[in-house]
Order: sequence, then C-alpha cells, then structure tokens
Amino acid sequence: MEIIKQLKESNLTGLGGAGFPTWQKWQAVLDAPEKKRFVICNLSEGEPGVFKDEYIINHHLKELILGIELAAETISAPKSYIYLNDKFKKYLPKIKRLASPAKIEIFINTGRYLCGEETTLLQVLEGKIRWPRIRPPFPAESGLYGYPTLINNAETLYRAHLVSIGKYQPKRFYSVSGEKIKKEIVEANVDAKISEIIGKKNLGQAKFARIGGVTGEFLPKEKFDQPAGSTGAIELYPDRKEIISALIESIKFLKSESCGKCTPCREGLYRVAENFNRLFDSGSLWDRKDIVNTIKEISDGARESSFCPLGKSIWRLIESALENFSEELLS
Ligand SMILES: Cc1cc2nc3c(=O)[nH]c(=O)nc-3n(C[C@H](O)[C@H](O)[C@H](O)COP(=O)(O)O)c2cc1C
Ligand code: SF4
Repeated sequence: MEIIKQLKESNLTGLGGAGFPTWQKWQAVLDAPEKKRFVICNLSEGEPGVFKDEYIINHHLKELILGIELAAETISAPKSYIYLNDKFKKYLPKIKRLASPAKIEIFINTGRYLCGEETTLLQVLEGKIRWPRIRPPFPAESGLYGYPTLINNAETLYRAHLVSIGKYQPKRFYSVSGEKIKKEIVEANVDAKISEIIGKKNLGQAKFARIGGVTGEFLPKEKFDQPAGSTGAIELYPDRKEIISALIESIKFLKSESCGKCTPCREGLYRVAENFNRLFDSGSLWDRKDIVNTIKEISDGARESSFCPLGKSIWRLIESALENFSEELLS
C-alpha cells in the first residue's frame, strides 16, 4: 500500500513517547485477520511538561483530522475515536466543526496521566477499571473490544498526513517550559540537540533539565548536547534549584498516578519517596550512601517486575539523577 511505503521511507516514528515506527504499527493492524478495526487518536496529553498536542489542536486541527481519516481509510476502519483529555473540553466545538460524527467519535477521559497509556486508554474507553492490561496481545492485534486497533499520538497522525501529501520533513514539536521561563513550542529536527532547541538565553539560565517528562531523565546543562527525543518535553530548572526537590516533586506526582495494581510500582514508589525524604532531611541519622544504594536496589527491582510501561520506565528518572548529581545528593 502506497501510504505504508511512504511512512516507511519517511522514518516517521510515534511521537507519544515510545518512538515505535509508524508504518510498522499501521501494517500490523492491516495484517490482523479480524476485519473490524478501530483508529484511536491519543489526545490524552497527561505527561507533565508536554503541551505539544494542545498546540496541534490550536494550530493544525484540520491536518490532524485528515491524519485520522487517512489512518482509518488505510486500515479500513469505519469508526475512529479521539480520546480527549477533559482539560481540552473547551476545544470541543472547534473539533466538532471539523470531525464528522459519522466517522469520528470524541471520548472525554478523566485526564489522569495513566489514561494516556494505550491499554489503560482501552480499558477506560470500554468503561472498565482505570488500569493497564497485559501486553501481548498488543492493541494492533487485540485492542478496543478485542478488535485490531491503531492507537497513535495526535502529532504522529498530524505528521502522517504531511507524509501523505509529500510535505513531511523530519521535524517534531518540543514543549519547552520551566521555572520562570515562558512556555513555548519549538519545531525542530527530530534529532535536534537540547541546547539548539532551548536557545542561548534559556541555556544561560539553566542548571539542569527534566527531559521527556516523568518517565524521562534529569540531565545537567553539560549534557544538553544530547537529543531530547521521547515525548519532546524539556523542563528547565534554574541555578538555585536543588535536584532533590525536583526529584521529590516528580515522585510525589508518580505516587499519585500509580494505579496500585502491582506491588513493585505501588510499594517501590512509596519506599523510594521515604528514602528521598531521608536524604532531604539534613538531620537524618541514616548514612547518605546507604540511602542512595537502597534507592538503587528498589529501582532496579521495580523496573524488572512492574506490570506496565509506567512502572517499568519511571526508574530511569531516579537513576539519571543518581548518575548525574551524585555529588549534590550525597553532600
Ligand atoms: C503512563 C503513560 C502515559 C502515556 N500518555 C500518553 C499520552 O498522553 N499521549 C500519547 O500519545 N501517548 C501516551 N503514552 C504512550 C501510549 O501508550 C502509546 O505508546 C502512544 O499513544 C502510541 O502512539 P505513537 O505510536 O503515535 O507514539 C503514554 C504511555 C505511558 C506509559
Ligand atoms: S506499574 Fe504502576 S501504574 Fe503500572 S500497573 Fe503497576 S501499579 Fe499500576
């Protein structure tokens, strides 16, 4: 099929975080034996520091709808869904003006972070408990109500449309924000360096950044020559910010978003929070090195044994802080 070939040649990969080749996902749904199929546009955008999909609603909605229609046509899906974070309810009239109700149904979710994870998304759409499903089977094989389902991030579908009309360039939107920094969306190459994306002024004021949201990494300014990738989120922290408080804020958020289905993530986060509090407490009786080693052990165990991608990926954030800021954390 022509569009699959074009997607393959474009090297477009999913822009929702996992970076899976888009053509391969579309092909997998096409190859599924079951002929009833669905397309879901993931407009959950609950990741802290990510606001690029909202930018697409505001600036490229027409192209996004065309991207959804293109995906539906390609996999012969009579019905598609826009899975919309309830913080975007204000855009409903605008979306409804462009999306034909016969083809595209808008489903409003509760806006929690985990709702954006593709199997949790399916559970919520089916009216079931808000927690993830085991994979495999992957949604491309058994998704909504057990039928093959193509789930793509809004930006991926927008860019797939650009591919189909020959206007695609290997670029993506980056969400740049931070303490005392004006939020902005920057469009730059998919492999652009963090320093290029944020510009000289922001670079001058920053001490470190959280890249890719809560499932990403903490990087010191010296490593801003790396690409931002993943969700395209760059959150900058100024000179006076201590890494420990940025870590505690992230863990607080994750603790409130963990669904509690599995022990390693639920209890691991609790234990890690407890240990970071000990590090934060300058009068603590605990040896700081012991605390850091305990945090590492908990993180390694939970990464291996958590049930879903949330619990498997959040430990990188902690690990990156321990790797890059050990001196500050231990002093
Ligand atoms: C905790 C968690 C939250 C996620 N939230 C979103 C989200 O808000 N939007 C999104 O497009 N993908 C999100 N994802 C990724 C989706 O599971 C899925 O990989 C993505 O929608 C696939 O689209 P893509 O291939 O176009 O990237 C999340 C994943 C996890 C683990
Ligand atoms: S890893 Fe965390 S979010 Fe995922 S199922 Fe387990 S408790 Fe829930």
